[in-house]
Amino acid sequence: MDHTLPKVTGTIDGHEFEVCHGTTLLEAAKTLGIKIPTLCHHPGLPPDGNCRLCLVETGDKLLASCAFPIRASGGVYLTHSPLVFEARAFVLKLLLSRAPNNKELLKLAEEYGAQADPRLSDDPDGCLRCARCVRACQAAGSQAIALIGRGRGRKVAGPFFEPPLDCVGCLACARSCPTGLIACGEEPRVIWGRQFDLVKCPQCGRTVGTPEELKRAGITSWLCPDCRRREYSQALKNLPEASFVRN
Ligand code: SF4
Ligand code: FES
Repeated sequence: MDHTLPKVTGTIDGHEFEVCHGTTLLEAAKTLGIKIPTLCHHPGLPPDGNCRLCLVETGDKLLASCAFPIRASGGVYLTHSPLVFEARAFVLKLLLSRAPNNKELLKLAEEYGAQADPRLSDDPDGCLRCARCVRACQAAGSQAIALIGRGRGRKVAGPFFEPPLDCVGCLACARSCPTGLIACGEEPRVIWGRQFDLVKCPQCGRTVGTPEELKRAGITSWLCPDCRRREYSQALKNLPEASFVRN
C-alpha cells in the first residue's frame, strides 16, 4: 500500500475495508479475502472490464470490479447477491457460447448453473474476445494485433487479417491468453502467420528471444540474463581497487 495516497473506506459483503484512493474494487475485495471470479483481468495488464464476469452490485447498479477504481468513501458493495449471481450466470452463458469446452468456464458455469445457449453457439472458435492478448502486445511495446471486425465476425488478428508486420515474435499474446488458444511454434518461432529467427546465448545456448524482440527492448548483448549477470559480476571482481572512488 502506498502510504502517501489518501485512504478510502467502505464495506464489501458487510466487511469494512480501507484502501488507497484509486484501488480497484477487485483489489479491495482481495484485501478482505473475498474472491471474485475474473477472466479478462490480468494483474500485470491495464484493466479492460470487457468480460463482465467480475460484476459487483452497489446501490442499484452493477459494475465491473476489475476496472472500478474506488475514489470515494462510504461505498457499499455486494459480491454475491442474487442480482450478481444472475448477472454472472448470464455472462457465463454468453462466454460458453464462444468457448464451450473451456475447463475454467465449465467449472464456473456449474457453480452458477449456466449453460451455453444453442442459438448463440454456431461455430464457436474458443476465443473469449477478452483482449488480454491485445493488451499484452501493447504492454510489451507493439501494436501488432487487435480485435477487429463486427458482431460474430469480430476476432483477434493483424491489420486486414494479414500476418502483422509489427509483430516481433515475443509470444506475450500467447502467454497471456487464458484459453491457450493462440497457435505458436517454438523451433522455428512461428506466430500469427510469421516466422522468426531465434537468438541463442553465445555462452550457454539458451534461447534469448527473436532479433526483432531484442531490438524493441533495446538489448544489444545477446547473452541470456544469467550469463549477462555472471559476466557483470566477474567484471566487477576484476576491477582494480583504485577504480572505486570514495568520497
Ligand atoms: S485469443 Fe485468447 S487472450 Fe486473445 S481475446 Fe481470445 S481468448 Fe482472449
Ligand atoms: S474480469 Fe473484470 S470485466 Fe473481465
